[in-house]
Amino acid sequence: MLSSPFVLIFSLLLSLPILFLLAPRILPPRPHSIPISPSDELDDQTLFNRAVAQSHSNNNNNNNNNNPSKFFHLSSKNPSLKIAFLFLTNSDLHFSPSGPSSSTKPPQTSSTSTSTPTPPSPTSPSPPFLNKLIPHAKRTFRASPTLISATRRLLATALLDDPANAYFALLSQHCIPLHSFNYVYHSLFLSPTFDSSAKDDASLPLRLRYRSFLEILHRSPKLWRRYAARGRYAMMPEVPFSSFRVGSQFFTLTRRHALLVVKDRTLWRKFKIPCYRDDECYPEEHYFPTLLSMQDPDGCTKYTLTRVNWTGTVNGHPYTYRPPEVSPELILRLRQSNHSESYLFARKFTPDCLEPLMRIAKSVIFKD
Ligand SMILES: *[C@@H]1O[C@H](CO)[C@@H](O)[C@H](O)[C@H]1NC(C)=O
Ligand SMILES: *[C@@H]1O[C@H](CO)[C@@H](O)[C@H](O)[C@H]1NC(C)=O
Repeated sequence: MLSSPFVLIFSLLLSLPILFLLAPRILPPRPHSIPISPSDELDDQTLFNRAVAQSHSNNNNNNNNNNPSKFFHLSSKNPSLKIAFLFLTNSDLHFSPSGPSSSTKPPQTSSTSTSTPTPPSPTSPSPPFLNKLIPHAKRTFRASPTLISATRRLLATALLDDPANAYFALLSQHCIPLHSFNYVYHSLFLSPTFDSSAKDDASLPLRLRYRSFLEILHRSPKLWRRYAARGRYAMMPEVPFSSFRVGSQFFTLTRRHALLVVKDRTLWRKFKIPCYRDDECYPEEHYFPTLLSMQDPDGCTKYTLTRVNWTGTVNGHPYTYRPPEVSPELILRLRQSNHSESYLFARKFTPDCLEPLMRIAKSVIFKD
């Protein structure tokens, strides 16, 4: 009789440490870390499987036909190679070359669209764009793995869209080009000097030198907290802390790496786990650098081609340029890179920068 309240209190006391241990597991996930629904996951997986299967069958066909030159050799001698520009957006494309138009307007819930330009003609400063909204667009949330899924959907769609897509440049609606399309094309496919970190590779056959432009950093003050954001051991054993990397979410991947990203299931199972804290959860800044540095570190330059200004960062957002700041000097300054001959893109710009940017487009941005 007397013992039962005591037992109750005792077990309550006992359960306290257990509660502490389990607390992070019991707390409901924050609204924007909503786990991805099984049906969305299944949709994605179906799309990724299609992209992988098509790439394999294309490869086989090429081998059977004894026609290796057709699409898959990343080589300057292949004129049909293309760059797929992928826009990860939750709004209109402010700086779309065709200008805002109702036919290219994504629905409010759409997160993704792809634009695949046709090969450049030697005279045009920018390529003819075929704006294509991907049919699989889904809502994305900041600080959640939905941004990884959206990026993978873009890559898979562009892989399927055209076997000639050889580079995949991920951008957002706040990104601007810093050069003409011809310059971009020449830098990625032809220039032996553009990537200054690869100078000593000059003896390799040309196609071995094509690498992904992806930032990969292993030192960052918040790396441990970001790693442990899902729980101390949540990433083990697949991703030990020593393999955990950080880098810019905006990158330019080779076709081989785009395929590798779409094929991955092992790391995705870890990175899709919701975090306990949203201020330490930016899975899209970790998933791609970690995956590629684990699978093919030498195939990556370890830097990005998209300039971003982290001075005076607010709330995890980089500095955002406004119309009065747009000037020829700014463009020249943003191009300066320590790793390559130039940055090719820059962010973030507000939509109303379009007008001042257009004023200097011909005389500065596309003049190179
Ligand atoms: C980066 O942003 C800061 C303001 O936070 C500004 O003073 C600086 O000029 C910017 N740098 C460049 C290269 O635009
Ligand atoms: C290039 O390196 C210098 C010296 O380390 C650094 O001060 C500068 O910010 C770097 N520039 C860019 C664009 O990262």
